[in-house]
Amino acid sequence: MLRLKVEPDGIEETFTQPFPLVRALWEAGLSMETPCGGFGGCGKCRVRFLKDPPEPTTEEYRHLTLAELSDGWRLACRHFLDREAHLFVPDQSRPGMVTVLTAAVERETERDPAVGAFQVTLSPPSAADERGYLTRLLEGLERVSGLFFSPEAVPLSVLRSLPRVLTRSKFCLRVIVHRDTSEGRKTGRILWVGSPSEQDRLLGLALDVGTTTLVGYLLDLTTGQEIACSARLNPQVRYGDDVISRLCYALQEPRGLRDLQKAVVSAINEIIGEVCQTARVSESDIFEVVTVGNTAMLHLFLGVNPEPIAFAPYVPVFQHSVTLKAAAIGLRIHPEGLVTTLPCVAGYVGADTTAVVLTHLDDPDGDSAAALDIGTNGEVVVRSNGRYLCSSAAAGPAFEGGRIYQGLRAERGAISSVGLEQSNGSRWFRVTTVGGGMPVGLCGSGLIDAVATLLDAGVTDESGYLGRSDLPSDLADRLISLNGQRAFLLVAPEVSARPEGIVLTQRDIRELQLAKGSIRAVTEVLVRRAGLNWDQVSSLYLAGAFGMFVNPRSAIRIGLLPALPLNKIIAVGNAAGAGAKLALISLAERRKASRLASLMEHIPMTGNEAYQEGLMEFIGFPLG
Ligand code: FES
Repeated sequence: MLRLKVEPDGIEETFTQPFPLVRALWEAGLSMETPCGGFGGCGKCRVRFLKDPPEPTTEEYRHLTLAELSDGWRLACRHFLDREAHLFVPDQSRPGMVTVLTAAVERETERDPAVGAFQVTLSPPSAADERGYLTRLLEGLERVSGLFFSPEAVPLSVLRSLPRVLTRSKFCLRVIVHRDTSEGRKTGRILWVGSPSEQDRLLGLALDVGTTTLVGYLLDLTTGQEIACSARLNPQVRYGDDVISRLCYALQEPRGLRDLQKAVVSAINEIIGEVCQTARVSESDIFEVVTVGNTAMLHLFLGVNPEPIAFAPYVPVFQHSVTLKAAAIGLRIHPEGLVTTLPCVAGYVGADTTAVVLTHLDDPDGDSAAALDIGTNGEVVVRSNGRYLCSSAAAGPAFEGGRIYQGLRAERGAISSVGLEQSNGSRWFRVTTVGGGMPVGLCGSGLIDAVATLLDAGVTDESGYLGRSDLPSDLADRLISLNGQRAFLLVAPEVSARPEGIVLTQRDIRELQLAKGSIRAVTEVLVRRAGLNWDQVSSLYLAGAFGMFVNPRSAIRIGLLPALPLNKIIAVGNAAGAGAKLALISLAERRKASRLASLMEHIPMTGNEAYQEGLMEFIGFPLG
């Protein structure tokens, strides 16, 4: 028996065989930060062995100081539980409560949802009319709805309930159907039958399955109104912060795909439970879930092996919109309820990008404009003269705090903005934290602000080198050496929640340069390929939490965004979620999403010379 004891929780768990330590902690019910997917690359999974620490590994020498190592600190992902272990797991190694962006700039549309209810009155059988109950129902329904219903598509639960319902309701029925009016089709699927006074609520869920966060919006399909919303961290982050780490986990671990699918579905079921509780409705009132997400997330959500996305030429298993029974993937809505995904474009341009285009760039003949959704991946779309060019940049998780020494997501204590203040001849760094309180680390917008501020102050030069030799003493005094690398002390230890204070390391700046250089290079390739220059682009929409919280001046200062007039840069919030809502309440919008996805031309960046040149051009910082 292998005993694992965890402080300060006081958890004790026993295992019958050796287990990777991180997995053992999960099994013991502890959430751990493992942004790099447990490959020893990020140094975020710190734990302290309170007795008998194992020999340090090479990665630990890189991420931990000698004092920390001799104090028993180790990286959980580098060790096995192969003997009794007594650990301390600090707060910093556990995912915090993340602020999830749910708000968005929305677009109005006419309500015409796929799920609808019809009242049908049928003639009772007689010696002269021996048609069966189902035949009567399908013919009656076709008459009132104008749709074709195939008997094969009728669920067993409906067949079983027909005799009882028809007798009780005297052949007058309420029927809930799901309509499919995609190009050239006019068919329907029966979801429920009952008497006219029953099941008067028709609800749907618009779901955004992000790499980092999950957001669900509960909508009343009879009014189109949103009645509740809930969000949480995507629990798959324990298997890695970015898409690539998740794909690795799905492909390398024997139960990987199952673990990932189970994790996301159970969190979505929690969201469903929460929105239903808020709105005081039942989960069985929800008849459809319309889902957006990047291509890999949608594969994992449906439990489809994402292997082809992981290897060149990076194609998805499915890219069209699919509709299937929600129960088949474990979603707890009405037992016959359906889940529909919006169409993806390519392996790394998913339904979330289609939804952003549906919400803000839906008119192919509109002005030349661009949309940028920056998360753990950066997706870019440029619309010009009826064409849509799109691509994605493997930005890495730097903008969500990943691979940054003191990086955090937008959670309590994360520095979200930084500025250099001056009064009475002295200078200090002003920082703002999410939720107030002592700073704990930097989230994406804080990181960008910090680097922009250091560039303006001359602490960092255009190449990204930290610490020029001719700095004034008040800034030079803040240059320190940390684990053998240069770092800049932004916030002193005594006013931060970190013993070493809040620091920005040379490696953090390099991570940011790679991430922003990659996104900017993709954006430039698409704008130039569309034959445009930035003067001709009327608007640059910034989708997602990053776009909402980043200071556009700082994003321009570090070269992530082009130097556009600020009124052309428009933060639109969770545009992917807004697109899912449109498709949930309108079949016309759903058809439009499919048309837009088919218009979107994917420009691959692998082996793309213009992209390589752009990366070289934009990896440095612009001259101030
Ligand atoms: Fe352990 Fe990244 S170093 S998860």
